[in-house]
Amino acid sequence: MRLNEVPIITSAQIERRIVELAGEISRDYADRELVLIAVLKSSIVFASDLMRRLTIPILLDFVRARSYRNTESTGLVECTYLPEQDLPGKHVLILEDILDTGRTAATVVDRIRQESPSSIAVCALFDKPSRRKVPMTADYIGFKMDDQFIVGYGLDYNECGRELPDVYVLEAD
Ligand code: IMP
Ligand code: MG
Repeated sequence: MRLNEVPIITSAQIERRIVELAGEISRDYADRELVLIAVLKSSIVFASDLMRRLTIPILLDFVRARSYRNTESTGLVECTYLPEQDLPGKHVLILEDILDTGRTAATVVDRIRQESPSSIAVCALFDKPSRRKVPMTADYIGFKMDDQFIVGYGLDYNECGRELPDVYVLEAD
């Protein structure tokens, strides 16, 4: 793995954007029972920072969705872990690290819908709209990105680089 030396997005920029997103979400979900569902594994860094900036109480849960081999999507997504909370009557906000083809978020939304929550929305820290293969738009987006593979702040390349505080573009060797 070779990363560009200069981060494309710094942790300070992410922190500022998360404060804005958390403000919006706190206003939109005031007086509603909100369940944050973080998509494992990549969104845990984002989820832990975002939830601590919210000014409303939340419940936290997880789904595990798998789709990727190297940088190419297989096109197949499966949910291998599902939320433990009862979701009927709850308002669900799915937290994704990045929307790429959109297949993971679409699969997770379809699966969560079967649990009959009152509403489902999607919040993605990063969005690569030019890569979309299925219709999927997030209700909250941190940063719109070009078609490039990024690593850091929870996002990995073959499981490496999740621990980096800043976000870097993966360079071809
Ligand atoms: P999608 O199903 O194609 O939208 O892909 C979503 C998943 O692919 C994300 O949750 C990420 O785990 C992974 N992914 C997509 N693009 C990137 C990237 O640029 N860097 C790291 N992981 C990515
Ligand atoms: Mg990943």
